[in-house]
Amino acid sequence: MKLGPLGSDETIFSNIDSLNPDFVPKLLPYRENEQKEIANSLEPLLKGISGRNLFIYGKAGIGKTHVVKRVLEDLNEFGLPGIFVNCWVHSESNAIIGSIAKQLGIIAEPSIERIKNRLSGSAIVFAFDEIDQAKELNFLYAILEEINMAGIILISNKPEFIATLDERIRSRLQPQMIEFRNYKPEEMRGILKERRKYAFYEETWSEEAIKLLEEKTIEKADIRFGLILMRNAGLNAEQDASRIVLKKHVEQALEKLQS
Ligand SMILES: Nc1ncnc2c1ncn2[C@@H]1O[C@H](COP(=O)(O)OP(=O)(O)OP(=O)(O)O)[C@@H](O)[C@H]1O
Ligand SMILES: [Mg+2]
Repeated sequence: MKLGPLGSDETIFSNIDSLNPDFVPKLLPYRENEQKEIANSLEPLLKGISGRNLFIYGKAGIGKTHVVKRVLEDLNEFGLPGIFVNCWVHSESNAIIGSIAKQLGIIAEPSIERIKNRLSGSAIVFAFDEIDQAKELNFLYAILEEINMAGIILISNKPEFIATLDERIRSRLQPQMIEFRNYKPEEMRGILKERRKYAFYEETWSEEAIKLLEEKTIEKADIRFGLILMRNAGLNAEQDASRIVLKKHVEQALEKLQS
């Protein structure tokens, strides 16, 4: 059957939202070991025993944030709550304490004492993403001093960050180091394929378009880049009223991303 051009009320996307930067996939293939390692370090908290703190590091766009978010959601289902703060968005201690308080439902003036009272000794996990962007670490010292049953995860793409920590913080934190290694080319292909199957209807991508998408993602070694490229190429195809994403749609998307 030969179909005409794509109508303005039709779409090649089965789930475009899954290509948004905030979308956290249920499964993160090739990161199963890291997920297990993180979960294992925190699981003692479920039994009221203190867990291990973690420092997670590795290059940009290789799953650090999303793996931690996924583990926190999973642990939450077992009854261990998690707090997630991006220290690029909240970079000063007051703002970080404010964000934690808000996530715990504290409306009145946020402070470490109020947070401590709210938790009243129950276990919790704190994840501080982009920790190297925090302007100072008073909040971290306060948590280490005041909150006993806490597992702390620090995430950064700067491995050297840990060496810059004040001795008082480092000796209290004693973090277990978890390196996120780069994905191999075939792993990146696998991740892109999974997401493509999830985000697009079947048979909407030409082989040439897939090949270029894969090549460019491997070149950048950044899955985030690949997902943006995939989304924009799909939108270009739709704009063209094409039922299939062609190589030229990926090329157009590349031009825009590189300019
Ligand atoms: N194994 C995987 N399976 C499926 N999607 C993945 C996987 N790894 C990464 N991704 C996707 O790649 C994108 C980038 O991942 P993420 O934001 O976790 O990277 P990051 O390591 O935190 O990068 P940065 O250091 O720049 O913050 C996300 O959209 C994420 O869902
Ligand atoms: Mg991240």
